[in-house]
Amino acid sequence: MKFIHVSDLHLVPKGDKLWGLDPFARFEACLDDIVKFHGDAAFVVVSGDLTEKGEVLAYRQLGARLADFPIETHLMLGNHDDRGHFLSAFPNAPRDEASFVQHAFVRDDAVFLLLDTLKGPPSSAGLYCPQRKAWLKAELAKAGKRPVYLFMHHPPFSIAHDLMDLIMLDDADEFLDLLHGHAIRHIFFGHAHRPISGQFRGLSFSAPPSLVHQLPLVSGSVATVYSDEPAMYAVVHATPDKVLVHMDAYLNRAPADMDPEAERGDWY
Ligand SMILES: [Fe+2]
Repeated sequence: MKFIHVSDLHLVPKGDKLWGLDPFARFEACLDDIVKFHGDAAFVVVSGDLTEKGEVLAYRQLGARLADFPIETHLMLGNHDDRGHFLSAFPNAPRDEASFVQHAFVRDDAVFLLLDTLKGPPSSAGLYCPQRKAWLKAELAKAGKRPVYLFMHHPPFSIAHDLMDLIMLDDADEFLDLLHGHAIRHIFFGHAHRPISGQFRGLSFSAPPSLVHQLPLVSGSVATVYSDEPAMYAVVHATPDKVLVHMDAYLNRAPADMDPEAERGDWY
């Protein structure tokens, strides 16, 4: 099964710029690229920070753009989002009994759990409160022995970044305790604005960069808090024996400085 992980769109109303970049144009280019090269993907997950300021107009424009996007797309919330404004623009968005924007679906006998870790202003950190935990506990129980893929905006552990570690998921150990004994195959998160992958306590994980501004790995390595580094989306191949995550810098893809016929025919 192939699916796509996109994160941190930071949309502002169409035509507006954010830190010198055009979030809507970058998102549209991402969708076009996915359709062109990965039209066979089973689904797309956007793991939060759909908007920069949670504006209803930005959510409405997002909904209008997705209306004719041919691949099933699942939207999640991040710290820059506004749950109420999101739900006003997406009244049919799946949510749990307490109206948190989290849901589960099954593909190829694997369970996908998309969590809502939005804490809310003034904090940019993530929160997974007792109500949300109760939902996750029940969904993990329902999953039984089936493989589970978790999506969440905030990482539930330190990612060794001086700024991001200040706003990771609160009470991460309590959250991780919930996962014990379940067949978690991979954790996909966003929030980092950097391409990251690795393993934590035996759990593999990955995060793509944002589609707009990024966070320099070393604060101070550029003069500003944010940096202009390649935007990427992740193409994931998930099979019973493998989880493979490709990060594709779709805006920076260009032919190399070589003859188009050079180096062909001897790849063995
Ligand atoms: Fe973000």
